[in-house]
Amino acid sequence: MGDLVHVCPPEAFYQQFLSQLSINRTDDAIRALMPLESRPGLISLLVGKPNTSCFPIKSLSFSAQDPCDSSKEIPITLSPEELEVGLQYSPTTGIPNLVDWLYKLQEICHGRKRSEGWKLSVGNGCQDLMYKAVTSFINPGDSVFLEAPMYPGVIPMFQTIQCDIHEVETDANGMCSHKLRQMLENWPTSKPKPKILYTVPYGCNPTGMTVSLERRLEVLDLAHEHNFIILEDDPYYFVYYGKAPRPPSYFELEKQQGRIGRVIRFDSLSKVLSSGLRLGFASGPLPLMRAIDRHSTNANLQPNSMAQVLAISVLSRWGHEGFLAHTTRVAQFYREKRDIFEAALRRHLTGLVEWSSPESGFFIWFKLLLTEDGTDGCSEAAIRTHAFERGVLALPGTVFLPSGRKTAYARASFSQLEPDQVDEALRRLKEAILDARKTGCKE
Ligand SMILES: Cc1ncc(COP(=O)(O)O)c(C=O)c1O
Repeated sequence: MGDLVHVCPPEAFYQQFLSQLSINRTDDAIRALMPLESRPGLISLLVGKPNTSCFPIKSLSFSAQDPCDSSKEIPITLSPEELEVGLQYSPTTGIPNLVDWLYKLQEICHGRKRSEGWKLSVGNGCQDLMYKAVTSFINPGDSVFLEAPMYPGVIPMFQTIQCDIHEVETDANGMCSHKLRQMLENWPTSKPKPKILYTVPYGCNPTGMTVSLERRLEVLDLAHEHNFIILEDDPYYFVYYGKAPRPPSYFELEKQQGRIGRVIRFDSLSKVLSSGLRLGFASGPLPLMRAIDRHSTNANLQPNSMAQVLAISVLSRWGHEGFLAHTTRVAQFYREKRDIFEAALRRHLTGLVEWSSPESGFFIWFKLLLTEDGTDGCSEAAIRTHAFERGVLALPGTVFLPSGRKTAYARASFSQLEPDQVDEALRRLKEAILDARKTGCKE
């Protein structure tokens, strides 16, 4: 499979996916010339960089866990050169040694080699890069496909643009590709089809579901047949703890099929390295990635240099193997948290909630059985009012639906809690559901 010719659409093909805002956006004259500064022998009078000798931070030492033995720590002291890079402005798309390391990671994890017609850029978390993608690709009124329920952190991005949102149903096997096919095949001829589909393919936030291989292949086929780009938002890739081997990402599958150029993949270091460092990276077709980069030069110039230096100083010492050993341990940690949470759900809430076991991520998506007659209730009052009054905070499912419609579902996060806290939280939730049942939570 790896030797297939990788047919990537020409540059001009991607023009149709750019928003007017992105087409209008011009380059920052200084940043556009910055790559030339690395030419050997050149004396640069270009950028008004501050002189780092004037900065007060003179050294930085810390320690990182040994990825193969969590009882050991590796001491790290930044070299003067590393410190200088961390304290200074740096390239829009990321500092070169981190970018190189991440390209190699994409090759290891997704079989995508550098220089095969795609590009990687670092951002301040994948949220930052997604916001830039959404505004770079979507015009007011454009149709988009969003999986539902979905990560509520991106819903406002789409709503603010006032685009035409079409929810694609998901179930225990992730996005219902057959429903997507039906929507596309019945699309009104008078209206342009969506050019973007947003999905979280592993450990979806909130459902915890991972999309099956068959459905991934169908979604990719549909992207080609009906001409849309897949935004693969994947911060839980490295915390996959499902029993079955992890299916390939969309980014990997499109290469296996020998027709690349339909997927932009958003990765995050938040769940495995640090969420406070605010580091994520996007990988996708050159013209689309350049539009994201241009937004960065306009909006915030670049991702945080020091965060990148801290990250690469750890990652380069670990190596890719060490990083993957670390993420395997992290995934195991969350699998245990999930098991504890599910055991407590069975103990306290059997007959009061239903759920499917998540295979990645930090969340349980559960249906509250609120009515005696078995009809679907609405979790809003049960969670916002009754649960809060009983001393437990969770999210009602309606916030995960772009339409904001009623749902009996709710989301609980189990990433932080100790077993006794889980036990107490779910004991309280039981009381809250019984309270809600008395009032018949239909609204
Ligand atoms: C599905 C999803 N996408 C993106 C993000 C944001 O990731 P980052 O911290 O890399 O910006 C989150 C954070 O919870 C998330 O759940």
